[in-house]
Amino acid sequence: MEGFMTKKSFVAALSILATLSACSSKAPQKPSEEASPQSLTQKRGDEPLKIIPQPKVVNKPLVELGKKLYFDPRLSKSGFISCNSCHNLSMGGSDNLTTSIGHKWHQGPINAPTVLNSSMNLAQFWDGRAKDLKEQAGGPIANPGEMGYTHELAVAELQTIPGYVEEFKQAFGTDTIDIDKVTKAIAAFEETLVTPNSRFDKWLAGDDNAITKEEREGYELFKSSGCTTCHNGEAVGGSSFQKMGVVEPYKTANAAEGRKGVTGKDADRFNFKVPTLRNVELTYPYFHDGAAQTLSQAVETMGQIQLGKKFSPEENSKIVAFLKTLTGDQPSFQLPILPPPSDTTPRHNPFN
Ligand code: HEC
Ligand code: HEC
Repeated sequence: MEGFMTKKSFVAALSILATLSACSSKAPQKPSEEASPQSLTQKRGDEPLKIIPQPKVVNKPLVELGKKLYFDPRLSKSGFISCNSCHNLSMGGSDNLTTSIGHKWHQGPINAPTVLNSSMNLAQFWDGRAKDLKEQAGGPIANPGEMGYTHELAVAELQTIPGYVEEFKQAFGTDTIDIDKVTKAIAAFEETLVTPNSRFDKWLAGDDNAITKEEREGYELFKSSGCTTCHNGEAVGGSSFQKMGVVEPYKTANAAEGRKGVTGKDADRFNFKVPTLRNVELTYPYFHDGAAQTLSQAVETMGQIQLGKKFSPEENSKIVAFLKTLTGDQPSFQLPILPPPSDTTPRHNPFN
């Protein structure tokens, strides 16, 4: 291969590439794994929102293994449900359903939050009951209403798949698979699911033309109304637990009590993790009960119950326009091809 291209033609090819990417303001979305580690640099330093960093791949074999496990329905009892079933990476890392569908069509109790940028959350789940992504990842596999399997059976099954045994060996230096290694790999993959380069980040980096006048006015309203007291920082949320219904109580038929379920304290009743608003255009419906079907509805409810504000239709649509500037480059990669089973790998029957 080397020497095949002359130096001159190589330089010419490079300059064509440079022109191509300079011409298209909507450059093709970069695969997050190969994205340059160079983040945009914040020029508007005193804004409550911060530029989201580029994803980093620290340990490639571990991330590749985690990606396969993320897409592998053999981690479920039915052989049909994978992490991607409810956190679909073609749909903003969510399922776009009010509440999720689990094992045997079980109706989930709560809306599935996005996995995108979830590594930035102060804790995982609406009530923060898992401290990090690794701890979180064990939950759904053994949850009877989600993947309905057990850690023991899932691990034993992986151990019968030669391709996995080889990949665990590469990633961990040992061919003994356990749940700790499984969740570590999935978490490493999830850490790469960061969505940089949104138009709003470009604006934060100093590009005045990256957002329109209407979007800019929406951002000013977002700040001046007080939304940024809770939705701030790199992830525009994810950094605190807050009451749902500060000014007015939130009415819902959903039984979730939020943080109280973890701390046992009455004062924590209805405190939920503030969700990230990154990619919020993609992650409908909204709130822990999935009750707000549209962004406009979610903004109206937030104004009313968190801040005691009634936005005019114009104000509402400006804030919505601003929120849509937070959609970043989505993770993009080739669908992983999962390693085939051996004759001893159990076959799943979803109807048992
Ligand atoms: C049946 C649907 C379903 C499946 C399958 C599923 N999840 Fe979830 N996931 C949810 C729901 C619902 C929640 C919110 C639960 C809660 O907060 O109580 C959630 C929460 C999460 C969170 C926390 C995000 C946040 O902001 O708090 C992460 C991360 C996550 N899931 C990753 C995974 C991984 C990894 C897998 C595969 C091992 C997986 N999920 C499988 C439905 C699912
Ligand atoms: C006091 C803190 C606080 C303030 C102020 C606040 N929010 Fe929220 N926001 C939250 C919490 C907590 C949730 C999740 C509540 C739930 O689902 O029960 C949330 C959820 C949302 C959601 C839904 C996200 C999702 O993925 O479900 C949107 C959109 C949103 N807020 C926008 C806004 C806007 C716009 C404002 C200003 C008008 C605002 N918020 C003000 C705390 C706050």
